Amino acid sequence: MRSAPEQAADAVADFIETQQAKDLLRLLVCGSVDDGKSTMIGRLLYDSKQIFDDQLASLADDSRHHGTQGDTIDFALLTDGLQAEREQGITIDVAYRFFATDKRAFIVADTPGHEQYTRNMVTGASTAELAVILIDARKGVSTQTRRHSLLVDILGIKNVVVAVNKLDLVGYHEDVFAAVSTQFLEFARSLRFEGVHVVPVCALTGENLSLPSTNMPWYTGPSVLEIAETLPVRGHDSSRPFRMSVQGVSRPNPDFRGYMGTISSGIISRGDRVRVNPSGRETAVADFADFDGVREVAVAGESVCILLEDEIDVSRGDLLSGVVEPPTITDHFEARLVWLAESEMIPQRSYLLKIGSKEVRAHVDRLKCRIDVNSNEQVPALTLGLNEIGLCNVSTAAPIAFDPYDVDRNTGAFVLIDRRSNSTVGAGMIQHSLRRAENIRWQELSVGREQREQLNQQKALVIWLTGLSGSGKSTIANALEVDLHRRGLRTFVLDGDNVRHGLNADLGFTEADRAENIRRVAEVAKLFVDAGIVTIVSFISPFRSERERAAEIIGSSDFIEVFVDAPLDLVESRDPKGLYAKAKAGLIPNFTGVNSPYETPTNPDVRLDTSASSVDECVRVLLTVLDSRGVFDQR
Ligand code: ADX
Repeated sequence: MRSAPEQAADAVADFIETQQAKDLLRLLVCGSVDDGKSTMIGRLLYDSKQIFDDQLASLADDSRHHGTQGDTIDFALLTDGLQAEREQGITIDVAYRFFATDKRAFIVADTPGHEQYTRNMVTGASTAELAVILIDARKGVSTQTRRHSLLVDILGIKNVVVAVNKLDLVGYHEDVFAAVSTQFLEFARSLRFEGVHVVPVCALTGENLSLPSTNMPWYTGPSVLEIAETLPVRGHDSSRPFRMSVQGVSRPNPDFRGYMGTISSGIISRGDRVRVNPSGRETAVADFADFDGVREVAVAGESVCILLEDEIDVSRGDLLSGVVEPPTITDHFEARLVWLAESEMIPQRSYLLKIGSKEVRAHVDRLKCRIDVNSNEQVPALTLGLNEIGLCNVSTAAPIAFDPYDVDRNTGAFVLIDRRSNSTVGAGMIQHSLRRAENIRWQELSVGREQREQLNQQKALVIWLTGLSGSGKSTIANALEVDLHRRGLRTFVLDGDNVRHGLNADLGFTEADRAENIRRVAEVAKLFVDAGIVTIVSFISPFRSERERAAEIIGSSDFIEVFVDAPLDLVESRDPKGLYAKAKAGLIPNFTGVNSPYETPTNPDVRLDTSASSVDECVRVLLTVLDSRGVFDQR
């Protein structure tokens, strides 16, 4: 059986095929059920006669049971298809609806209007060319209207129809419409829309939606459907430079290597020079596999398997382009970011960034501001919460290829994925590369880590002690250093309390501050390793993401994660600094173990149970591990 998304994809494909003679407009409808969104979409489908008779019968039946319109048909039921949705009275996912008129075929992305469903809107908007923003005439421009408009703008939709709905409920008064219209246009001045039409409608009766209205003689403009029928469609852009993200490599035998993907823009012909990004290597198109010498050219929108002339390294996620007007290559860029998760965005936290088919580790290294959805103004912020939009600098662990989102919605968009839950937590639109990537290079030094290690007669690495406050980290760190020092090793202890007096004196204990705390100490520890020093880090480091990031910064082969484990009730009773008592009395916010979580390491290199082992025993365990890692080999 095909999965729901596959079935949906099939339905889209079927629809496109049958309507291929007509051009196709993708439109996004934003608003909530209360604004009349489902009614409006249902009405569009009904008036375009795209509803089958049996569906109509069941609708009339349903309307009597569930509807809110008495004996007349409740069009909202057409789109609120699912029972669960009906019972909740809301629409909960992006649903694609299809309809056609004599002039044009349409795909409508129907996205829920409730605030927590921004994610669906981002999904639905990615290919839309026209957005219909619904406003209830009685309520005027709401926070949600502004949020949706801002998102529509950020997502690069240039044409907007503002459907001011329920004019019947305000006596079809022109002045009510004029007031809402002015309110919207004033707000939209700060956005980058190219075409805005404001239309007074009554979705229930179809007036000015798909049918003319005698109740609003004062409105002489086009209906929503007329606007949608006449807006020039862009379709796939063959006039733009060639881009194809490599989705897969086909290697049925050692002599054959084909690169598969969908051409997102441009045209490519047999013999054309192509560039593989981000590596920058160049070669030429030898052939299109499926067509075996028959085909000369492939264009935007087509899925192809390309054979290249030279055997160069190309992998999934690489972006093929022409050699002129190639994409930008960078590992540091500015982007707009829409946050889609309940848990807040933490600058410096490591996420997985997906752009095209490429996945790379990345983090937000600076949140420059949050964009206030009501005023479209930039306001200072430390993190982003659900549905919030920010402007930030993003660093990736390896270079990526992109085009600015405003130039190319395909190659300029990315998502951030939480590495543990594997869920999409953010959607980003790249603005431009940052200069650090272009102007800062690594300086080669003549004396390297190896020479320093030789001089010190030791291998350098980081012993990272994590655990609750009072679990014994500092005591073990200290005892281990005393032992190593006695043996003549060059060592250093980076202790949370100490580092917070100086380098990290500006940081507190919020999740964001702790992430930065750990990033800085990991960078310092890395420098110590480069200096050839055996480095002991003793930080609570309560979050897995940050410990993983620390391991990445330092390099996992130089990183030993030691979980200093002690049950919470034991550390509370030890309470060497009296902090648990204070925290429990409500005097310390975000105290680990009391009102801030400690995420237990899932697979530490070493676990020391300080409720059962003495300090000496713990040190002995660590010495054995250091020995097995070759720390003493040069002695
Ligand atoms: S971490 O969570 O960011 O890694 P770090 O190890 O630097 O913490 O600092 C922890 C030390 O700060 C604790 O040992 C304790 O003495 C002190 N401290 C003060 N406030 C808090 C708090 N809210 N949570 C945990 N430790 C705190």
